[in-house]
Amino acid sequence: MTKRVAILISGGGSNMVALARSMEGAHPAKPVLVLSNDPKAGGLAKAHDMGIATASVDHRPFGKDRAAFEAALDSALQKASPDIVCLAGFMRILTPEFTRQWEGRMLNIHPSLLPKYKGLHTHARALEAGDTEHGCTVHEVTAALDDGPILGQARLTINADDTPDRLAARLLPLEHRLYPAVLRRFAEGDKTPVFI
Ligand code: GRF
Repeated sequence: MTKRVAILISGGGSNMVALARSMEGAHPAKPVLVLSNDPKAGGLAKAHDMGIATASVDHRPFGKDRAAFEAALDSALQKASPDIVCLAGFMRILTPEFTRQWEGRMLNIHPSLLPKYKGLHTHARALEAGDTEHGCTVHEVTAALDDGPILGQARLTINADDTPDRLAARLLPLEHRLYPAVLRRFAEGDKTPVFI
């Protein structure tokens, strides 16, 4: 049975495009929805151009009422009845109540070699720490932020002239290889980690 995949984005959606493209042709999964917390997210137009259904739930009108925002987000998701949810550059922190509902079916990509540098500004922190390596991680989403079981990692060597922006730009192509590779395995029910 082909797995139905919903992809959550907040911005340009380059990881979403990489995932959607990887599911073209023979693949155990297919994209059924691209959902954003920002109605103006550039990735929505890209998904539309790829023929994927799109929706948005703007978090701003909900202010501090995260439960109400997540209820609206969940109802948009349920309409597409996904088997797998991929967070791809989705920048809202989800509550344990929300992640518990999707546990075992929700993945995230994080731009660091977890468990190092959970949270934001991962590239600057790796440079500040004088690290020689950096990378990205795909993991299962659990209640604790950027903490779930690791399903894949990709590494690169930090260059002396790297800046946070240059490191982010050098890492993105690796993200676009890692996430599709993990998704294909996960959709086949295989949680053996992928290392690039
Ligand atoms: C990526 O680096 C991802 O790891 C991080 O946000 C960035 C978003 O990229 N969470 P995009 O929106 O997929 O282009």
